[in-house]
Amino acid sequence: MPHSWTRQHLLDLQSLSADELVVLLDTARHFKQVGERSIKKVPALRGKTIVNLFVEPSTRTRISFELAGLRLSADIINFSAESSSFKKGESLKDTALNLEALNADFIVIRHGASGAPHFLSRFLKAHVVNAGDGAHEHPTQGLLDAFTIREKKGRIEGLNVTILGDILYSRVARSNIWALQKLGANVTLCGPPSLVPKIFEEIGCRVVWNMEEALRDADVINLLRIQHERQRATMFPSIGEYAGLFGLNQSRRHLVKPDALIMHPGPINRGVEIDNTFADGAQSVILQQVTNGLAIRMAVLFLLGGGRREEIAAAV
Ligand code: CP
Repeated sequence: MPHSWTRQHLLDLQSLSADELVVLLDTARHFKQVGERSIKKVPALRGKTIVNLFVEPSTRTRISFELAGLRLSADIINFSAESSSFKKGESLKDTALNLEALNADFIVIRHGASGAPHFLSRFLKAHVVNAGDGAHEHPTQGLLDAFTIREKKGRIEGLNVTILGDILYSRVARSNIWALQKLGANVTLCGPPSLVPKIFEEIGCRVVWNMEEALRDADVINLLRIQHERQRATMFPSIGEYAGLFGLNQSRRHLVKPDALIMHPGPINRGVEIDNTFADGAQSVILQQVTNGLAIRMAVLFLLGGGRREEIAAAV
């Protein structure tokens, strides 16, 4: 197992090893404890500057990265695309180079184009962190989901994890698939065939198109919203029909194991992919995922910034 983190950027989970994933999850466990103290701030990134370059909307991820940076004592700049010179035609490359010229040490980027963080990593010296790129990956979401499963179930290896919904357009699904499979979970994907193509079997997932098969043995059920903003065609007849066929609602309660975790990355479309009784019920860990996201993002920034796992005790 590596003793320190050697990567410059966090661009995806596909390229990380199981050992690297475990280092991240273990590091986040320490930072979760920091969040439970009366004084929640540590000096690990004092003097460093983090720019949150969000070119797509976000509630959870942007605020979580901002708070993670603040808790690590970094200076934070929140870049708003709407009020920036993007509006005057400035390119992503020029924008990023200008941010680096202002001594940004980290650029956390969310962008609608798959590969935008990888593109920046080719010419920036700053650490690039992918906060969601198109339908490609959302690595910190995959990590916080894995963290939450491990925290609640005590393990990931051997668990049956069902990811339900719009898999085709979901960066969350892809990051979950890479992380959970490397850590030994059995991943089932379910939704309409137009949104859950068989091709996912080629990367080791089980693909099913009916809810009974998807739910019956699931230890974890991770629900995804329909990514209307990314769909280029009508992928199913109506929202009502989707909710009837693939929504997690009371008519399917008997299919859900009593100890199954109910997860959702947010934002939730209540009454579509999940009803209130599941979203707010005792099995739901949806808000705990948000809390854990903060610890994960602190761990990511800490390790990218050169922090060593052995130094965490002193750092926190
Ligand atoms: N889960 C997630 O990425 O939520 P936001 O789009 O609100 O950041």
